[in-house]
Amino acid sequence: MTITRIRKAVFPAAGLGTRFLPATKAQPKEMLPLVDKPIIQYGVEEALASGVDNILLVTGRGKNAIEDHFDVSVELETFLESRGKLEMLAEVRKISNLINFAYVRQGEPLGLGHAVLVTRQLVGNEAFAVILSDDVIDADPPALKQMIDVYDRVHGPVLCVERVPREDISSYGVIAYEPDPSLPAGVYRVTDLVEKPPVEQAPSDLAIIGRYILTPDIFASLEETAKDRTGEIQLTNGLRHLLRSRPIYACEVDGVRHDTGNKLGFLKAVTYFALKRPDISGPFRDYLRSVLEGRV
Ligand code: G1P
Repeated sequence: MTITRIRKAVFPAAGLGTRFLPATKAQPKEMLPLVDKPIIQYGVEEALASGVDNILLVTGRGKNAIEDHFDVSVELETFLESRGKLEMLAEVRKISNLINFAYVRQGEPLGLGHAVLVTRQLVGNEAFAVILSDDVIDADPPALKQMIDVYDRVHGPVLCVERVPREDISSYGVIAYEPDPSLPAGVYRVTDLVEKPPVEQAPSDLAIIGRYILTPDIFASLEETAKDRTGEIQLTNGLRHLLRSRPIYACEVDGVRHDTGNKLGFLKAVTYFALKRPDISGPFRDYLRSVLEGRV
């Protein structure tokens, strides 16, 4: 296989977002803002900053707001221009100018593996990234860029992993791994993968988090992967199948990850990003202190 640079990132975004009802009854969970930027835009900006310039969004019913968000808004641009709000204008233009978006519908919600499978024609015969936008990673260099650097070295699938506490392990795909002295620190050779194991069956504390670099042979593996007990095709099981025919790698990245897919994680992410914003961090910090001290 000729080695190409990673040009495409798949964003599965067809999930119903039931954990955030009623907020997500009529708007996609990917559009909930962390301060003033929708969750999914953090992932798209990470992809762009990692050298990826084609975004393939896997959507479903009720997700039009995502398409509109990344499209040009002529009315909004004209309005901002006429009011001289040029900084804001540059902000709204930034993404739609720099990156190509393509959309594919998942149809039936048959799991993450299925979401990846429906991008087969759009991805074609090249290695690509998958970003689960719920996992927002603040990192420099960007998390995906760190993974691409590993891919450039190993030329095989690379999964992003993180050590998680025992009590959380059964919410994740978990890897078994072996040390390989030829690999840099934090990079592992995967020997097995299990999707959401009961804690006593987890092969390690290294959980897969929402970033993958995949090779196009994953599609044939997913085709051959049976649905699990819940009726879904799991990406983890597709990777397990692929592991029979090629090495798979995992790497830890340097950065801070927030799981915005649950309420507490979402609130932590809002707080974290608000405290990083020079325009509001001072008064926000004071406010948090007064709440914690019972003055509000
Ligand atoms: C999915 C994957 C799981 C992975 C997780 C990372 O699960 O199936 O292997 O660990 O994303 O966020 P989900 O969170 O969609 O249930």
